[in-house]
Amino acid sequence: MQRTLVLIKPDALQRGLSGEIISRLERRGLKIVALKMMQVDEVLARRHYAVHNGKSFFDELVGFITSSPLIAMVFEGEGAVSAVRSTMGSTNCLESIPGTIRGDLGLDIEHNLVHGSDSEESAAKEVSLFFTEKELFSYPRDIDAWITSHRR
Ligand code: RTP
Ligand code: MG
Repeated sequence: MQRTLVLIKPDALQRGLSGEIISRLERRGLKIVALKMMQVDEVLARRHYAVHNGKSFFDELVGFITSSPLIAMVFEGEGAVSAVRSTMGSTNCLESIPGTIRGDLGLDIEHNLVHGSDSEESAAKEVSLFFTEKELFSYPRDIDAWITSHRR
């Protein structure tokens, strides 16, 4: 089953939108397998956003993600990576369609509330960057049979 990293970014925590965001992802059927509140330091921020190193917005992005605590989470489910990305909406909230987290709750490209891994490969890297094996839970939910048919 696919796993993906979600960050409830500092702006979402500051605005009291953490519950709303978690709730939308849970209601989609995704299962929480890890969760912690943390203050990301510059070293972790630079590693997490390493692919953007050198871009014009990189320093600002590192500054923003380290500016205040965030909530790091791992969600699990069939197609979890793309399910989270489509629920989030596109990078710039102004271009995100209504119905998505960014399209309903934001207006900015930097203050875009949430991060989700963009591929299975980045998900694997990002999950291990933020969580140890011990912090990741494997547990059955009775409701899973009502969410996933294993027919795709
Ligand atoms: P994220 O990684 O945070 O989930 O966002 P994303 O995949 O939708 O966007 P990505 O391309 O990975 O960019 C990471 C973050 O950098 C900021 N950004 N600014 N000014 C710009 O052109 C620009 N492009 C990206 C955004 O805050 C984005 O979340
Ligand atoms: Mg990204």
